[in-house]
Amino acid sequence: MAENKNQFGSKLGLIAATVGSAVGLGNIWRFPAEAQANGGAAFLLLYILCVLVLGVPVMLAEMSLGRRTGLDAYGTFKKLAPGKKWFLLGCSGIATAYFIGSYYMVVTGWTLEYLFEAVTTQLYHGAEAIADVTGSGADSFFQARMDEYISTPVRPVIFTVIVIVANIIVLTGGVQKGIERLSNILMPMLFVVLVAMCCLTLSLPGAGAGLKWFFSPDFSKITSDTVINAMGQTFFSLSLGMGTLITYSAYYPKSTNLTQTSVIVSMMSTIVAVLVGMVIFPAVASFGLEHHSLVGTTLVFQTLPEVFMCLPCPTFWASLFFALLFAAALTSVVSIMEVAVAFLVSHFHFSRLKACVFTMTPLLLLSTLCSLSFSTLKDFKIFGMTIFGLLDSLTTNIMLPVTALGVCIFLGWFAPKHLMKEELTNNGTLRNRFAGIIIFLIKFAAPLLILTILLAPLFR
Ligand code: PHE
Repeated sequence: MAENKNQFGSKLGLIAATVGSAVGLGNIWRFPAEAQANGGAAFLLLYILCVLVLGVPVMLAEMSLGRRTGLDAYGTFKKLAPGKKWFLLGCSGIATAYFIGSYYMVVTGWTLEYLFEAVTTQLYHGAEAIADVTGSGADSFFQARMDEYISTPVRPVIFTVIVIVANIIVLTGGVQKGIERLSNILMPMLFVVLVAMCCLTLSLPGAGAGLKWFFSPDFSKITSDTVINAMGQTFFSLSLGMGTLITYSAYYPKSTNLTQTSVIVSMMSTIVAVLVGMVIFPAVASFGLEHHSLVGTTLVFQTLPEVFMCLPCPTFWASLFFALLFAAALTSVVSIMEVAVAFLVSHFHFSRLKACVFTMTPLLLLSTLCSLSFSTLKDFKIFGMTIFGLLDSLTTNIMLPVTALGVCIFLGWFAPKHLMKEELTNNGTLRNRFAGIIIFLIKFAAPLLILTILLAPLFR
C-alpha cells in the first residue's frame, strides 16, 4: 500500500493501530466496573446501542475530517474553516489529550509495576501464608498491597517516568515504524491472551453463575445515570472527542473505506469488553468474590490477583494478565499523546523527537501531580476532588462530550457542503448504502444525545 512514511503501511496495520487506541484501560478496567454497577447485560445492551447510534457516527465524523485534510486536530479545523474560531475544537482536543494522558500514564505505570512484580514473583510473596491462616485473608492482603503501593510517593512516579520514556521511544519511531509496528505486535497478542484467559475462567467450577449474571439483563437497574454512564463509556472507550481519530485518520490512505474501518474498530472494542466480562464475572462467581465492588482500582489490582491465586501457577496468569493490560494501555496512551506530537510536528515543523520531548516535559509534571494525588497530595482537593479525580471527571464527563458535540455540529452544519458524503463514499468511487443514515446521525441524533449527557446533571 502506501510508500509515504506518514501513512499507515497496510490496511491491517491501520486497523491494529486504531483498535490499539480504542482498546485500553477503558475496556478492561472501566467496563466491568460499570457493568457490575449498572445491571450487567442491561448495561451491555445500552452500551452497544450507544456505540451504534453515537460511537460509530462520531468516529466517522472524526475520520472524515482527518482523512480529508491529512492534518492534526488543530490544523484540520484551521484548514477547513480559515479565519473562524473552529480551531478552538482542536485546541480543546489537545488540552484533553494532556489531561487524560497525565493520569493514563500513571495507571499504565501501576500496570507496569504489577507486571514487574508478577514476573519477578514478588506479587505473591507472603500472600499464601496469610490466605492459609485466615481463609479470606488474601482480600485484605491485596488491598493493603495496592494501598501501600499507590500511597508511597517515589515508586509509582518512577514507573510513570518509565512509561513516558516508552512513549517517547514509540512516538519518535513515527507512524509506521513506531505506532503501527507496536500495534501490529501487541494487538493480536492481546486477543490471544484474552481468549486463553476466557477459556480458563469458563472452565472453573461455578463459572456458569457468573456468566449467567453477566448475560441476564436486570433492567430495573437502568436509570438516567445508567444511560449517561453508557454514553460516557462509549466516548472514552472508542477514543472519541479529543482528536485522536482525526489525527490517526490523517495517516489513512485515501482508499481506506472509513465506514468499514469504523465498524470493525467499534466491534473489536466491544468484543474485548465482552470478553473481559466473560473472564471477570465467571472468575469472580467461581471464587465467591461477588461481594467485591469492582470499582476503580479494586478489580484489576486486587480482585484479579486474588482470583489468580486460586489457580495453579498464579504467577504465570498474573504475568500474562498484566502484560495484556500493559499492552492495551500502552497502545492507547501512545494515541493520546500523538494528538499533541502531530500538532507540534505539523504546526511548528519540529522533528518527531523534539515534538515528543516538548510534549512530554509538561506532561511529566502533570503526571507526577496525578501520581502524588494518592500520597503527598492526598489532601489537596479542588471541588472536593484530588488532582487525579478532577482530571478524570473533567475530561470524561465534560471535555470529551463537548469536543465530540463540536465536531458533529461542525461537520454536519459548517464544514464544506459535500465533505461528509465524499469521505463516506471515497469521492463517489465506493457504494455506501448507509451514507444517508450516517449523515442524519451526525447532523441530528448525535448532537442531541450528547447535549442530553451534558445537560442531564442540571435537571437532577
Ligand atoms: N480508548 C482508550 C481506552 O479505552 C482511552 C482513550 C481515550 C484513548 C481517548 C484515546 C483517546 O482506554
